[in-house]
Amino acid sequence: MSERSGTLADDPFSGRHLTSHERLTGLPWDASYHDGPAPWDIGQPQPAIVRLVSERGFAGAVLDAGCGTGENALHLASMGLSVLGVDVAETALAIAREKADDRGIEVEFAAADALQLERLGRRFDTVLDCGLFHTFDGDERPGYVASLASVTEHSGTLYVLCFSDEGPDTGPHPVSREELRAVFDLSNGWSVAAIEPDRTQTRFHDDGAPAWLATIKRI
Ligand SMILES: C[S@@+](CC[C@H](N)C(=O)[O-])C[C@H]1O[C@@H](n2cnc3c(N)ncnc32)[C@H](O)[C@@H]1O
Repeated sequence: MSERSGTLADDPFSGRHLTSHERLTGLPWDASYHDGPAPWDIGQPQPAIVRLVSERGFAGAVLDAGCGTGENALHLASMGLSVLGVDVAETALAIAREKADDRGIEVEFAAADALQLERLGRRFDTVLDCGLFHTFDGDERPGYVASLASVTEHSGTLYVLCFSDEGPDTGPHPVSREELRAVFDLSNGWSVAAIEPDRTQTRFHDDGAPAWLATIKRI
């Protein structure tokens, strides 16, 4: 990967800093989508998200941060919600847009850095993070949480589905309950309503990997 001053030289949004995951792997996120489906790209929405929206409903405008190839965003949009999916991987966004066209679903996909969501100049009632939070290391998380706060309406809801550190066969970036509670706190505009055990399906786990489904309110 070519790198200048810590930014991707070929990034369409010049000035985006490499994430810890990109520095660790030496590859831009986009590369995950070049040679067939990525490990998390299960070709359907995450069952935990399908259940979540059917049981609780999602309110208002929805942002899917780190939408990948768009299955969750497409599912939510197919239920009549207004959805914007953002990602830094242009290849994933192209696949997501193609699926939307093929399925005749009205949904918006845009390239944007989840660490700088304020640049969108928009606000959302519901924000979904399915598999993005756990890719950020401890140094990145406060900035990500502030970025999320900048686009979430007061009293809005953030849902985070991330790998958990409990149980056998944990995913590659396990997160503890305490880590979630520490970073989403009252001092930075959030109140954790619930952190429930769930599963994240991947292409390499027969029954998914242990996950947390966190419900977090913007105050
Ligand atoms: C583990 S994947 C999950 C994708 C999708 N949510 C899903 O459930 O299939 C994480 C996604 O976050 C995207 N991503 C990573 N860092 C990002 C950032 N700073 N801004 C926006 N998207 C990012 C990656 O390109 C990737 O598509």
